Amino acid sequence: MSEFRITGRAKLAGVIGHPVTHSLSPVLHNYWLARHGIDGAYVPLSVAPDAFVTAVKGLQVSGFRGANVTIPHKEAAFAIADEVDPMARIAGSVNTLVFREDGVIHGSSTDGFGYVANLESDGIDVAALASRGPALLLGAGGAARSIATSLLEKGFQVVFSNRTAGRAERLAMELDAAWRRYFPKGDAPRLSAIAWDMWEERLGDVALLVNTTSLGMQGGPAPDWTPKLGTASSHLVVSDIVYVPQETPFLKAAGEQGLTTSGGLGMLLHQARPGFRAWFGAETEVDEATVAYISAVLSNR
Ligand code: ATR
Repeated sequence: MSEFRITGRAKLAGVIGHPVTHSLSPVLHNYWLARHGIDGAYVPLSVAPDAFVTAVKGLQVSGFRGANVTIPHKEAAFAIADEVDPMARIAGSVNTLVFREDGVIHGSSTDGFGYVANLESDGIDVAALASRGPALLLGAGGAARSIATSLLEKGFQVVFSNRTAGRAERLAMELDAAWRRYFPKGDAPRLSAIAWDMWEERLGDVALLVNTTSLGMQGGPAPDWTPKLGTASSHLVVSDIVYVPQETPFLKAAGEQGLTTSGGLGMLLHQARPGFRAWFGAETEVDEATVAYISAVLSNR
């Protein structure tokens, strides 16, 4: 690794959140900056909700190239962006802001991209998977919304199942309306919702199962959560966005059943790549060294 140096010309970016102390993004971006020998820095920015606009304007006039945006600012980031990518517009949320030299603030949502890129880097042929059957998403929060949008873009039929059924139904309807508004001449998206106590029985034709809830997370509501996947076809791909632990009980059980699995850490690492490219001008790779570095950081927490 080359020597890490910050000069007066350093390229600057950061992550705006509240709280921001748990964000892995500063560790990840500064690791990549050092590895690429780039004169730059990426800093945590703790900004209260009512100060978000002031903070963004302040970063812009201070020469920052942009920022990631995390909870609770993703909707405010959408509102402040002058230009928003189609998938972020449909998802209604922005996690990456790029401050262009002409003053325009560009917003995008890279969570869904990160999710799909991680599947691909795990060797899964996402286009072929989409033709095999629907994706079943467990949960109906912000993560489900971003992932579903990217899966629709890849041609998947998307089914939501959520403990609070109304949220899943509403999400399916909202995404349907947003998609049609954006692509009035295209094919209508295929979105639906099923009851939370039904999804285990409905796995037979499902091609991709995604846990977007906090079930299985260390310190979360149910760390031992291990649903029954007995009705799954042998081709089912099982993925989880929880990354602490890196192999959740859910993924472990799926793997022991012979199913292909994909863990949550890679999504976090891949979603950072578009921002890094825009702010620091280099392509990054989520290679073994990156995964090992971030895993070590996580296990020392
Ligand atoms: P995010 O924006 O990160 O996706 P969120 O909006 O808080 O987070 O959503 C968390 C998801 O986990 C929700 O789908 C939630 O279900 P509800 O809508 O019914 O709250 C789900 N979830 C959390 N704890 C759960 C539990 N114990 N059992 C089932 N689902 C749970």
